[in-house]
Amino acid sequence: MSRIRKAVFPVAGLGTRFLPATKAMPKEMLPVVDRPLIQHVVDEARQAGIEHLIFVTGRQKSVIEDHFDRQFELEVTLKERGKKADLTLLSEELPDAGTASFTRQQSPLGLGHAVWCARELVGNEPFAVLLPDVLVQHPRGCLAQMIDAAEKLEDKANIVAVEEVPADRVHMYGVVGVGPSKGKAFTITQMVEKPKASEAPSNLSITGRYILQPEIFGVLSKQAAGAGGEIQLTDAMVQLARTQPFYGLKFEGRSFDCGSKIGFLTANIAYALERKDIAPVLRAELTQLLKE
Ligand code: G1P
Repeated sequence: MSRIRKAVFPVAGLGTRFLPATKAMPKEMLPVVDRPLIQHVVDEARQAGIEHLIFVTGRQKSVIEDHFDRQFELEVTLKERGKKADLTLLSEELPDAGTASFTRQQSPLGLGHAVWCARELVGNEPFAVLLPDVLVQHPRGCLAQMIDAAEKLEDKANIVAVEEVPADRVHMYGVVGVGPSKGKAFTITQMVEKPKASEAPSNLSITGRYILQPEIFGVLSKQAAGAGGEIQLTDAMVQLARTQPFYGLKFEGRSFDCGSKIGFLTANIAYALERKDIAPVLRAELTQLLKE
């Protein structure tokens, strides 16, 4: 498969599950330890070799654009105060000029529509999609594992990350049917968005990471609304699977569904427990809290 250079981040969602925190602040800017959710996901994409970041934003989301720009007042103040480590951190994280693009999804018509909004920016090449609600804790991240797997597949392959979920949660996700293995990946036989437990083809859910061929855009342009009255990416993938192969990859690492309060809070604790500067004290505090 040709190299995956571009990644799409759909960040237009309203974040109603986190109100009132998300009334004036995008949910993607909620911090997991000291990095916004979106920064964690961008880190994963860069670690996988992504060169161009494409954000599909919406109204009230301009702070995301500011986050990926320079902040002169802050830089001047940090310089005056001799805070070299902070300055280095900010400059290392800044995308090179021209490598971050922003487009707006003007109406909340669903994930499929959000991805379609990126069609002009992606152009005619395979690309990645990363949903910032999902964090995967693994030294290499999830997308790098997918790109490794994709390299061993045919040119026009599409690949989605999957993981096992309990039967009583399959209705919250896209779910795939499992066919023969090919290297670390397996052939997908079916995809259903938010099935009832009794109708789910397996207990493997789509985990918010995709490598897609550009032909998905043609399908999306004609895609009718599906589950929840929204234009679903999964439905368009079902159409594309008629002409192109689709694979699933059970990735290594632990995922956190940060679209839910429990997933978000657990992610904060898990990521903090990986930090040498925070973990010892946090562990002691948590132990004390749990005793009380
Ligand atoms: C979206 C996708 C779904 C996927 C999920 C992962 O759903 O439509 O297929 O399993 O993300 O988080 P959403 O969470 O936007 O309802």
